[in-house]
Amino acid sequence: MSPKRIIIDTDPGIDDALAFLFALASPEIKFEALTTTQGNVTLEKATRNALSVLELAKASHIPVVQGSMFPLVQPLRASADVHGASGLGNSKLPEPHSKPVAQHAVDFLIEKILAEPNKISIFPIGPLTNIAMAIRKEPKFAKAVRELVIMGGAIQDGGNVTPQAEFNIYVDPHAAHIVFHSGIPITLIPLDVTQKCLLRQEHIDRLLKINSPISRFIRDAVNVYLKVSYERGFEGSALHDPLTLATIIAPELLTLKEYYVDVDISGGISMGNTFADIYNITKKPPNMKVGMNVRSDDFVELFTQRMEKLSRSITD
Ligand code: BDR
Ligand code: CA
Repeated sequence: MSPKRIIIDTDPGIDDALAFLFALASPEIKFEALTTTQGNVTLEKATRNALSVLELAKASHIPVVQGSMFPLVQPLRASADVHGASGLGNSKLPEPHSKPVAQHAVDFLIEKILAEPNKISIFPIGPLTNIAMAIRKEPKFAKAVRELVIMGGAIQDGGNVTPQAEFNIYVDPHAAHIVFHSGIPITLIPLDVTQKCLLRQEHIDRLLKINSPISRFIRDAVNVYLKVSYERGFEGSALHDPLTLATIIAPELLTLKEYYVDVDISGGISMGNTFADIYNITKKPPNMKVGMNVRSDDFVELFTQRMEKLSRSITD
């Protein structure tokens, strides 16, 4: 089978960076471009981080395109408490040599997707602002995207920003509303499954047996994330964004169910809450597949093995 063509839309972000590395280490994937948005950090930092991580992984040939600076309606909100001030924990990557493409990510996405309808899947692993803007700007966009695999939402579990809302959706719930109702085929990978996939210190120690800038970057980036995770009662740091790629690399590890899912944009205490019509009460047809369970140990092992492989291939 030929590798699946993807664009990652992202706000890097520690686990976003891990998702880029996972994609680069996986022959099942053709990683064609990376579009940035605000979220974990400001747009400027997100773009810098994207360029730096690709450079570290010797993948500067992948175009990085800068996108939306603000959510559609909500004010900007960064999460330095989780991802560190730079967005990449304690890692100190040098200023990137490469530059972003001189085009807005929304226009880039529209051009690229319309040039080859139904060939390219988009993996949004940050707030959905760029995708919503592309849907609104170009009416043909939604029909031409092959699939969206979104890291976001909390269906069975509580949220991680408010008791009900997950970060990516909470940052731009209006964008999520547009995307969920766009008719694009969607797979949602929510917190319920991503929080089961924990990268623990023992996995990082395993990677550090390989003397590589990749293994050292993972140690330095994940450090901060691990600390916050321990404070919240987790035994490791959740591989939220990398888990989206399991839909290509190892789909048998995920249990997906089709549901009608919506998001609260009414502005009250449940703003950004994502909810599934599990008992088909509304009689509305399903608008997405939702990750309901995951073979988490197998996934974390797969991720670690791919990071070992990438670390071996990139040395000082
Ligand atoms: C999501 O929020 C971000 O902080 C992570 O990168 C992930 O995409 C988890 O809620
Ligand atoms: Ca993210």
